[in-house]
Amino acid sequence: MKKILKVVSSVSGAASKSTQLADGIIAQLQERYPGSTVTVKDLAKDPLGHFDASHLLAFRGAGDATAEAAAIADKLSEAAIKEVEEADIIILGVALYNFHIPSTLKAWLDHVVRAGRTFSYATGKPEGLLKDKKVYIALASGGVYSEGPAQAFDFASPYLLGMLGFIGLTDVQLVRAEGCSIPGLQDTAVQKGLEQVVIA
Ligand SMILES: Cc1cc2nc3c(=O)[nH]c(=O)nc-3n(C[C@H](O)[C@H](O)[C@H](O)COP(=O)(O)O)c2cc1C
Repeated sequence: MKKILKVVSSVSGAASKSTQLADGIIAQLQERYPGSTVTVKDLAKDPLGHFDASHLLAFRGAGDATAEAAAIADKLSEAAIKEVEEADIIILGVALYNFHIPSTLKAWLDHVVRAGRTFSYATGKPEGLLKDKKVYIALASGGVYSEGPAQAFDFASPYLLGMLGFIGLTDVQLVRAEGCSIPGLQDTAVQKGLEQVVIA
């Protein structure tokens, strides 16, 4: 039995291919680990705010936000980090928007990636503090980025792989539903992605 955290970033609700892909991965995980629980963090419905002066004061003790605003930022950040810490497996549903991740997902990462909590330079070298978790990136895109001329325009997956690794999440599988806007590819994109999933 595993604790699964599903993060939704698409604004497309039930029509979202990244969410369908994430749900398909979760179905495979539940088959492998019966009784697993799923916590859903829907960033389209409940977005976290952008990193601002209140976070700077909460995270770094600097800046001119009020103590009250910093306390709220601290609470939201801690809650987001705890959800990640409590999960054994994290599924990031990612819609490719303008060659990158949705801004709500960036805002969530800005709450989770925090010195002293999820990464540290205490030893002089960067160290990720999150350990022993599996992550699946369920990335849906209108075009094809795994190969071909558009490859260099996928800024989402290198960013996510780098960022997750920085906080210690190095066991990551990138699963793509690609060609979601291309006739001939769009109808099978999610299924093709699901065929690539490796469940340990
Ligand atoms: C605002 C917006 C920007 C998009 N930008 C891109 C893009 O840069 N490259 C691409 O291949 N598809 C792009 N698309 C298409 C989406 O990646 C595609 O519809 C994908 O299925 C979105 O994931 P979702 O189905 O989970 O919402 C964009 C769609 C929207 C709505």
